[in-house]
Amino acid sequence: MVSFRLPTTLALLAASVIAQDYGGNGPLGPDENGKYEISAEGIRGLFIPYGASISNLFVNDTNGIERDIVLGFDNATHYSEDPYHPHFGGVPGRYANRIKNSSFMIDGTEYHVLPNENNNNDTLHGGPHGWDYRNFTVVAHTTSSITFSLVDPDGEQGFPGEVVSYITYTMTPNEWHLKMVALSTTKKTPIMLSSHTYWNLDAFQNDDTALALNHTLYLPYSGQRIGADGILIPNGTILPNDLYSVNDFWSAPKQIGANFSSPDLLGNCGTNCTGYDTCYLVNRAQNGPYDWRTEGPVASLFSNFTGIQVDIFTDQDAFQVYSCGGQNGSIPLKSTQGLTDGSRPRVVEQYGCIVMEVEDWIDAINQPEWQRDKKNIFGPGDDPYVLEARYSFSVN
Ligand SMILES: *[C@@H]1O[C@H](CO)[C@@H](O)[C@H](O)[C@H]1NC(C)=O
Ligand SMILES: *[C@@H]1O[C@H](CO)[C@@H](O)[C@H](O)[C@H]1NC(C)=O
Ligand SMILES: *[C@@H]1O[C@H](CO)[C@@H](O)[C@H](O)[C@H]1NC(C)=O
Ligand SMILES: *[C@@H]1O[C@H](CO)[C@@H](O)[C@H](O)[C@H]1NC(C)=O
Ligand SMILES: *[C@@H]1O[C@H](CO)[C@@H](O)[C@H](O)[C@H]1NC(C)=O
Ligand SMILES: *[C@@H]1O[C@H](CO)[C@@H](O)[C@H](O)[C@H]1NC(C)=O
Ligand SMILES: *[C@@H]1O[C@H](CO)[C@@H](O)[C@H](O)[C@H]1NC(C)=O
Ligand SMILES: *[C@@H]1O[C@H](CO)[C@@H](O)[C@H](O)[C@H]1NC(C)=O
Ligand SMILES: *[C@@H]1O[C@H](CO)[C@@H](O)[C@H](O)[C@H]1NC(C)=O
Ligand SMILES: *[C@@H]1O[C@H](CO)[C@@H](O)[C@H](O)[C@H]1NC(C)=O
Ligand SMILES: *[C@@H]1O[C@H](CO)[C@@H](O)[C@H](O)[C@H]1NC(C)=O
Repeated sequence: MVSFRLPTTLALLAASVIAQDYGGNGPLGPDENGKYEISAEGIRGLFIPYGASISNLFVNDTNGIERDIVLGFDNATHYSEDPYHPHFGGVPGRYANRIKNSSFMIDGTEYHVLPNENNNNDTLHGGPHGWDYRNFTVVAHTTSSITFSLVDPDGEQGFPGEVVSYITYTMTPNEWHLKMVALSTTKKTPIMLSSHTYWNLDAFQNDDTALALNHTLYLPYSGQRIGADGILIPNGTILPNDLYSVNDFWSAPKQIGANFSSPDLLGNCGTNCTGYDTCYLVNRAQNGPYDWRTEGPVASLFSNFTGIQVDIFTDQDAFQVYSCGGQNGSIPLKSTQGLTDGSRPRVVEQYGCIVMEVEDWIDAINQPEWQRDKKNIFGPGDDPYVLEARYSFSVN
């Protein structure tokens, strides 16, 4: 289907030299905090090379007050110093989410990648030095768009083959667009990317709550989810999100916290965990050939306090939701967020945010019966891995 060939390592190096040249000297270079700005009418975002991460996203609320609605740190240097590494706003790679037993088979060969979670029982987000622990190269930057690139060498973290990637973020009026392209240049290898953006649509400035439990979520195509064990490793099952059950976000929009008093929610995000850290499937097949740009959104998140709503359109077939049960007040808020009157600690509290990840079916490399290989394993000569999404903002 795609006949072009993107340049690989050499062309990329050349491009990075050019970008550094004008990035360092021109008006489009990073600001004093190491952040790169892109904007369009009604929307302004700041990005950093570390993990190709979004660090700030400003939109105006229903009263015209500007709010920074994603989590991050005040400066680019802090991302690699922060001891907790919450994968703030970055691109997990080369394989997002968890890999069971840190191993997988391709064409009869068993590969082992570096473990980094649950006492080394599994690999999360590409390993201890996954993509969102690395500084990407800025290869293009205009006032409305920025492209980051990373060359992931053969054998890095145990993954076979080199992968060359381009992450492009673009702003158009009230919309943030993501396009992620990755090419496997030498060997067949797993690739699954995502955007690990943390949201608080109140910018932590709601006097009544520092949490995101009152945000309303709607997943109209997600009647099913991937079953997982106590450490969130898929166990091969596809589970029904029964009508009115705690995982029913498809029959009607529902507040994230609506079912927090239900005993069913205990264990829903792993052993002893109350909340969500769940991979919902996106089932659009009954609509026939659909255009993801017009069909959908696959998800909508809304906060009544700011009136801000984000509608997420994507070509991806799964959608992870994490309700920030792992936060515990150890991470500082940015200076652009929170209350300044001293009435509340300026930290991210448990359930203070929501992570929403467009992606494919998680750990499908270890569930061959799901028949997702063409969306999870890529080799030289294959079409590139492509992820596209559009986050559309409105107020009501
Ligand atoms: C918010 O509104 C103000 C005043 O109209 C404007 O200057 C600012 O650019 C707006 N913010 C965004 C992100 O569009
Ligand atoms: C960078 O941000 C972190 C986290 O907010 C803060 O602790 C640190 O002082 C900042 N560093 C500089 C140089 O501003
Ligand atoms: C990545 O970039 C940050 C911010 O510019 C910098 O502090 C850090 O040293 C860089 N890390 C590496 C490994 O180059
Ligand atoms: C897990 O990986 C180890 C090697 O790292 C291997 O010995 C073991 O057989 C694997 N277990 C399963 C259940 O696949
Ligand atoms: C992880 O693996 C070890 C053995 O290597 C085991 O003792 C432990 O129970 C496993 N599970 C978790 C959640 O740590
Ligand atoms: C959050 O929603 C619940 C009902 O679901 C309501 O009782 C509570 O007052 C709301 N809190 C805020 C701060 O809006
Ligand atoms: C898989 O996990 C789900 C969710 O925890 C559970 O309901 C189901 O019984 C498990 N199935 C198997 C075969 O382990
Ligand atoms: C979850 O919350 C919704 C909306 O309030 C409610 O209709 C549903 O019965 C609740 N489900 C459970 C299992 O508590
Ligand atoms: C879960 O909680 C129970 C009761 O507090 C505790 O006994 C158990 O050790 C916990 N399990 C894990 C894996 O944390
Ligand atoms: C939503 O906010 C408006 C004011 O901004 C308030 O009047 C209304 O009661 C709120 N609705 C809910 C469900 O909290
Ligand atoms: C908060 O969580 C972090 C990371 O999981 C952990 O290192 C830290 O000890 C926890 N702090 C508290 C106060 O529980």
